[in-house]
Formats: sequence, C-alpha cells, structure tokens
Amino acid sequence: MDLQDIAHPIQRHLDAFPKIFRESLRSNVGLVELVTRYLVRQKGKRVRPILVFLSAEICGGVQQKTYRGATLVEILHTATLVHDDVVDDADTRRGFPSINAVWKNKIAVLMGDYLLSRGLLLSLGHDDFPFLKITSTSVRRMSEGEIYQIQKSRKLDMDEATYFTIIGDKTASLLSTCCEIGAASATDDGEKHRLLREYGENVGIAFQIRDDMLDYIGRRSITGKPTGLDLSERKLTLPLIEALRQSSKGDAHTILQMIKHGGKKMKPERVIEFVKEHGGLTYAAQKAEEFSALAKQRLAAFPSSAAKDSLLAFADFVRDREK
Ligand code: IPE
Ligand code: MG
Ligand code: MG
Repeated sequence: MDLQDIAHPIQRHLDAFPKIFRESLRSNVGLVELVTRYLVRQKGKRVRPILVFLSAEICGGVQQKTYRGATLVEILHTATLVHDDVVDDADTRRGFPSINAVWKNKIAVLMGDYLLSRGLLLSLGHDDFPFLKITSTSVRRMSEGEIYQIQKSRKLDMDEATYFTIIGDKTASLLSTCCEIGAASATDDGEKHRLLREYGENVGIAFQIRDDMLDYIGRRSITGKPTGLDLSERKLTLPLIEALRQSSKGDAHTILQMIKHGGKKMKPERVIEFVKEHGGLTYAAQKAEEFSALAKQRLAAFPSSAAKDSLLAFADFVRDREK
C-alpha cells in the first residue's frame, strides 16, 4: 500500500485538513502571511495528520477534537523543519528553496517560534490540556535529541545505543505523540492510549532508520533533498555506525578522518561505498524491519477494521519508503 491507500479510511478528514491548517496560522502581519503561504504550498507527505486520524479511527472515530490534534502536530512538525534547515544550513526542503534560503535565518528562526506558539495556543484556546501534556514531552525530546546529536557529531563519537536514543527523541517522539493524541481524541481508555503511543514510538524509529538510509541511497529527485547531507554535518547514522563496527580499525580510522576533516578531502561516494561493502545498509534495513514488527504487535488486540489495516500497512510503508 502506498500512502494514498493507507489514508483511504480517513480520506475525507485529510481532505478537510488543509483549510483548517491554513486558517489556524492566520496573521495580521503581511510577512508572516507570505511565509505561511509559501509553507502551506509545499505540503509534504502529511504523515503526522494521517497518523492522528487513523489512531482516532481505530479508537472509535474521528471527532472535532481530532482535527485540532492533527493541526497541532503538523504545525509543530513544520516548526521543527523550518528550524532544522537553519541548524543544518540546508538550502532545500521538499524540493524547494528552504525558508532560510529565501528569507534568511532571522525570519526562519522567528517563523519557527511563531508556528510553535500558534500550535500551543490552538490547544489552549479549546482547553485541549491532554494534548498539551502529551505534546510538551515530545517538544522537549525533539530539541534535546537534536542537540545531543550535535554534541556527539562534534566528537564523532557515536555508538548504536546512543543512535537509538537520539532518533527516539528527535523523530519517534512526535510520531508517538500523533498516535496518542489521535487515541486520546476518540477514547478515554488509557490502555489504548498506551498501545497507540508505543506503536507510534516504534514506527517512528523505523521511519528515521529509513530516513538515514535514504541519506545514502535516496534519489534527490524523489526525496527533495540531496544525498550525503548527514555526512557533511558529521552525523554518524546507523548504516555507517554498523559499517565502522564491521571494518578493521585502520579502515575505520581512515573513514573517520575523512569525515572529520571534511571539505575537499571528503568524498561522499567513498563513504557510501564503504558502508555498502561492510553491510551497513543491510543491517539498517534489518533494524527498520524489527521496529516495524514491534509497532505492528501493539495493534494485535484491536479488532479488524480498515483503520487497523492502514496502521499495519503504515508500519511497512515507513520501512520501505523512497521519500
Ligand atoms: C522529515 O519528516 C523529518 C524527519 C523526521 C525525518 P517527513 O519526511 O515527514 O517530512 P515531510 O513533512 O513529508 O516533508
Ligand atoms: Mg537536521
Ligand atoms: Mg535525514
């Protein structure tokens, strides 16, 4: 199933979503409106709203509140992307020039803050306190995870356990939040909240492992991002962590020196070759499969439904995706 098929059970909600999303960001400031218009046009895959709606659907059905949950997470996601592109000094996002590339870092930093505040105010305005409680932890985890990754990349010191902590925090936490918010919008059953939260955490880890694989094997025309970006940021991700573990001390040293010095000495093709030769991508694919399977296990107790089939298929999608 592709994402389109996965979204099918909640398609009408997803169709109604863009307008609500757009309206929730209205401002009297012309420049804010200009940047917002630019942002909404490059809409992304909408993975997070899809997860919110499907999680609500499997827990009894989408409510008005579910829409606010979906809007909240997509706003937060957009805020983190806008900030991420400043942090990484990235000039493209979703195949288009990034906000920082068009309007400079100043505007990107402030727009990220604006988005974050609008997300929080949306929930506050409707007394959606449970949403805020669920979300605040992931906002902390996302920023802490990104900073921890930078701390580690400075010293090029990274092992598999640290890698999993980082991707759990920076990516899985928000996907987990999406699922829990969806569940919380539809039922008071705490056990269901827990199962969906854990589904989201595991699916999120598989999602990020695949993202990190795509940094090696992805095609720019599909992902909308250049390959080798993580290497130029000195980010050691799972395919390389594994390849370094499998190689001789000498070879590992050579590769690490190259990444460390960067600049002209850095040959991304050589690192990609090294990773492939030492089974780094195969290993990462295995791990993505493991977490995808763990996610699916969390759904075992739910009765059959179209929404359940979609959530199961989503766990396969994150593991196999090309963008
Ligand atoms: C990108 O997320 C950031 C990561 C957590 C890897 P997505 O791949 O969901 O981005 P869009 O919204 O589809 O552009
Ligand atoms: Mg980044
Ligand atoms: Mg990436």
